[in-house]
Formats: sequence, C-alpha cells, structure tokens
Amino acid sequence: MKSFLSVTDASKLEMDRVLARAKAIKTLIKRGRSLATLSGKIAGLLFEKPSTRTRTSFEVAARRLGGDSIYLAANELQLSRGEPVKDTARILGGYLDGVVARVYAHDTVVQLAKYSRVPVVNALSDLEHPTQIVSDLFTIQEAKGKLKGLKLAYVGDGNNVCNSLLLGGAVEGMSISVACPAGYEPNATVLSEAEKTSRFSGGNIDVSHDPVEAAKEADLLYTDVWVSMGDEASKEKRMKDFDGYQINNDLLKVAKRDANVMHCLPAHRGLEITDDVIEGKQSIVWQQGENKLYGAASVLEWLLRQK
Ligand code: CP
Ligand code: NVA
Repeated sequence: MKSFLSVTDASKLEMDRVLARAKAIKTLIKRGRSLATLSGKIAGLLFEKPSTRTRTSFEVAARRLGGDSIYLAANELQLSRGEPVKDTARILGGYLDGVVARVYAHDTVVQLAKYSRVPVVNALSDLEHPTQIVSDLFTIQEAKGKLKGLKLAYVGDGNNVCNSLLLGGAVEGMSISVACPAGYEPNATVLSEAEKTSRFSGGNIDVSHDPVEAAKEADLLYTDVWVSMGDEASKEKRMKDFDGYQINNDLLKVAKRDANVMHCLPAHRGLEITDDVIEGKQSIVWQQGENKLYGAASVLEWLLRQK
C-alpha cells in the first residue's frame, strides 16, 4: 500500500499526475460537476494538532468525490491514555480505507503506515508537510504556467514546510533559496536528498542567512510562522532570533517585478509577513489556501483507489 508520508514518496511522474488531476478536479468542481471517484471510501482524519485548512479541505474533498471521512481527535482516542500507535493503527486500518494524520513526531505517521495496512497521508509532522506542497506547486503552476527554472526564496524557519518545499522544488527542477537564522536550517538529511535530486532535475538548492541575497531575482517569496506547533517553549528566543526574517515591501522590491508571495497560513502579520504584503497585489496566498482543497482531493484519489 502506497502512503504519502514524505514528498519523496511521490516519483516525479506521480507528482505531475497528482498536480494535473488537482487542476482537473478544480475545473470539474467549479463547473458544479459531481464526482464519485471515492464512492464507498471512508478516510479517518487522526489529528494531534489543530488545523483549519488541512482538516477542512480533506473532509470536504472526501465528500466532493463521493466518499466520506471521520474526524478523530487524538486527545479523544485511547492513544491519549497510552495505547500504542501500532495497536491503534491495526484497529483503524480494519475500519477505514485510509488515514490522514497530523502528528508531532514524524515516526507516528511511519508507524501508522506500517501497521494499518491502509494508505496513510501525512497531514503535517514535525519533519514534513507534503500535502501542503502539492497544493503549493499547483498554485505556482496556475500563477506562473510552469515550475521548472523558477526561483523560490523561502525566508524564515527551516521547518516542516521548508523541508517539503525543498524536496518538491528539487523534483520539479526549481531553484530554492532558503534564508534562515543560524541554528534554524532545514533538516540535514532532507537537504542532502534535495541537493541530490536537484543535480538530476536541473534545479538548485542553497541555504544562507541572508534574506536579501535569497530574494534577489526570485519569482516567488514564501514564508511560514516563526513558531511552529510544538515549538511554543522556545517562542521568546525565536522572536529575537527571527527578527529581520520578514517578507515586507523592501524585500519584495529585491525580487522580480512580477514576483508572487506565498504563505501556507496561518499567518502572523507584523512577524514573518507584513499586512500590506499579504493583502497586496502580488500575494497569491488566498488562491494557495483555496487550492488545498484540490490538492487534498487529488491526493485522496491517488492513494485511496489502490487495489
Ligand atoms: N496550511 C495548513 O496546513 O493550515 P492548517 O494548519 O490550518 O491546516
Ligand atoms: N510550520 C507550521 C505549519 C502550519 C501549517 C507548523 O508546523 O505549525
């Protein structure tokens, strides 16, 4: 059973098919067509952390495709009283056609996939956020008409979103420049994997501590929160360390004139991004947010229809 725990679980061919199908599903849904590709399928959404977009988009996607979903708050399961993940996985796998899981430790999605015997979708872990990157790449294709050869500057924390962006951008031959404070670099294994992939795809990966250098001639500027879910204990230190790692009008001027601004959301205006930039003409943040629905639908179709 194929799962989607990391961007690396999708080959270039699979990623391109998922992106193309997201586009087709968007067109069909916008035309009011009803789809039945997930008829009879039920996905379980097991979430250890809050979510607005990912939870809602997966729930709506399952229904729009003629299937259904069940939300399972981890704190209401026996997991919260110490039942092992592998036991939970074996039971859920017997009831459900797939599990979409948002977790703290990445190993939890690995365990769920190993023991459930149904496809598991990583809906965000401390290491990656692969479904975010599906909808982000789709949004970039809509905005720019292509992926290959584009330069994306990621300014901020080398976190789960950054890790998955590096892997996704590398597969698609994009140039990804990360600017983060010292000590907040992306995961080292992810980085070397992305560099390796880039050498074949014609992309490029670089990591610096200089947002201006990263943003030069960029087609896209991307940021995420300074304090991810689970990092709250270091909030005070992070507020100091991330000072200056902000997408604002000065930084936008360094990028290409037609550059677009992205943020996976939720955003903290005045910290990682300014209000005028997120609300401004170059922002594609709201389109990016909407596209999570079509990315989710395409990922569910890809994984839940395996024999
Ligand atoms: N971008 C994203 O994953 O948002 P949620 O936390 O609201 O799901
Ligand atoms: N990096 C953020 C993404 C939220 C969608 C977090 O993990 O909290």
